Amino acid sequence: MNLSVRDAEVAEVMDDPDCDPKRLAATLRRFDTVNRFVSGWGGVYRSRLRPHLAALGRPARVLDLGCGGGDLPLRLARLADRDGLDVEWLGVDPDPRAIAVAQERTAPRVTFRCTDAATLLSEEARFDIVLSNHVLHHLSEVELRAFAADSLGLSIGIVVHSDIRRSRLAYGLYNVGVTPFAPGTFLRTDGLRSIRRSYRVAELAATLGDPWRVSTASPFRILAVATDG
Ligand SMILES: C[S@@+](CC[C@H](N)C(=O)[O-])C[C@H]1O[C@@H](n2cnc3c(N)ncnc32)[C@H](O)[C@@H]1O
Repeated sequence: MNLSVRDAEVAEVMDDPDCDPKRLAATLRRFDTVNRFVSGWGGVYRSRLRPHLAALGRPARVLDLGCGGGDLPLRLARLADRDGLDVEWLGVDPDPRAIAVAQERTAPRVTFRCTDAATLLSEEARFDIVLSNHVLHHLSEVELRAFAADSLGLSIGIVVHSDIRRSRLAYGLYNVGVTPFAPGTFLRTDGLRSIRRSYRVAELAATLGDPWRVSTASPFRILAVATDG
């Protein structure tokens, strides 16, 4: 597998509107486990989200754009609650199949809605933090620029997009590590395709441009961060 070049042509099964709905729902449910192992949001919460929320000194609103099965806002809500932070969480996804899975899960102060960033902007919705996980690599270059601009427009604070960083090591480890979680899902096929579609730091920085700061968050992660204004 040649991972020196980003493969923007390979398509993920879950992005096919006609893919097997049972396997898709199982995939979205199991992102919970995968995200715990690979996404690094515990560290991002401690280093970026918690300090920002605590400094506000008032109730806050956080948006997860492209929330999929919704596990990330639920997890972050538990962490913030434990830290005594007063936060409302909204997870949105344009795919109704994802929102149906997210809405199976409930927690106080966490809401899921099938919509997109453009609609939220037209409603003049604004959030103290806008974040996303594993969305950037799904998008075409044009969609990515629009997604980044919309996320900034929706923020009155910070924006944090987290994704996979493409590497041979990530590909090899994921291929082995996903084995117990893959049956009945698209996790192996789509996870490996995701790595092929994902960015390296210089590539994402060049695509996003200012005001985005792109960095390596861990051996396998990339973060694009910007601040409103
Ligand atoms: C790999 S899933 C990640 C889901 C979730 N964030 C997670 O980490 O488990 C990618 C998600 O991005 C959503 N998505 C695709 N294009 C999007 C867009 N332009 N804006 C918001 N979400 C989008 C898809 O519907 C899908 O649910």
